[in-house]
Amino acid sequence: MPDQKIEDIQWFHQLTLKDGRVTPGQVDIARHEHLYLFDRLELKGKSLLDIGCWDGYFSFMAEQRGARRVLSLDDPDFRWGGLDGYNFLHRHFESQAEWRKGSIYDLPDERFDIVLCYGVLYHLADPLAAMINSFQAALDEVVFEGLIYDDPQPTLFLLAPRELDGDPTNFYTMSTGYVEKVAAMCGFELVDRQMRHYAATALRRSLRKPQPRTDRAAMRFRRVAEQTPAYEASCFSVAPKGLLKGRSR
Ligand SMILES: C[S@@+](CC[C@H](N)C(=O)[O-])C[C@H]1O[C@@H](n2cnc3c(N)ncnc32)[C@H](O)[C@@H]1O
Repeated sequence: MPDQKIEDIQWFHQLTLKDGRVTPGQVDIARHEHLYLFDRLELKGKSLLDIGCWDGYFSFMAEQRGARRVLSLDDPDFRWGGLDGYNFLHRHFESQAEWRKGSIYDLPDERFDIVLCYGVLYHLADPLAAMINSFQAALDEVVFEGLIYDDPQPTLFLLAPRELDGDPTNFYTMSTGYVEKVAAMCGFELVDRQMRHYAATALRRSLRKPQPRTDRAAMRFRRVAEQTPAYEASCFSVAPKGLLKGRSR
């Protein structure tokens, strides 16, 4: 099949192609990998699950940096843009990564050395179930990135539909304390974190109030125990029936 032109694709990720062209996406991750702690991951020989992969920047880079198995999970129905970008890059890089349609609420039975969950949690009405699933899918490490504010109290911050960037898929932002508490219940400890909105000096940082609507962070966890939080299964949610008829955009 002849390649689609890159200008005909709705891109989310900017990514440099083999001939030096750059896909015209919204986010330039290559220059900001440190904000995802992605540049610090040891990928050689590892298996990796990329939850909510979109155009697949992290999947393809992980493969190119030595990951032996990459599963890219997403569902284009969750967002705009379709699958053309991912498919284009998969052909372009002659990738062996596997794309699978799926949700963080129903992950494959397989477990992976590393699980990436970048930019996904704040799109979910049930971030607790999603985080527990992510931890359970990981043999060794999980890295979350998203709207996470720096506060040791384990809190969620509820957003009204379209309150943030006019986007009706934003639900909760969460505190670093929340992410750490769920991690501890799942047998994981924090090994690294990167706050995006840190002030330059220690004094300014100590005076700065967390901004739950805008602060972003990446948090990297390592498994220290095999553990499942002992909540009752019946307490976890399903979507309200009235929302199932159609998407609002
Ligand atoms: C803001 S984008 C982040 C894309 C990419 N991970 C990144 O960081 O650049 C959110 C992604 O999460 C995906 N997503 C939304 N709900 C999801 C769900 N329930 N399960 C898995 N992925 C989901 C969307 O399809 C989209 O690709």
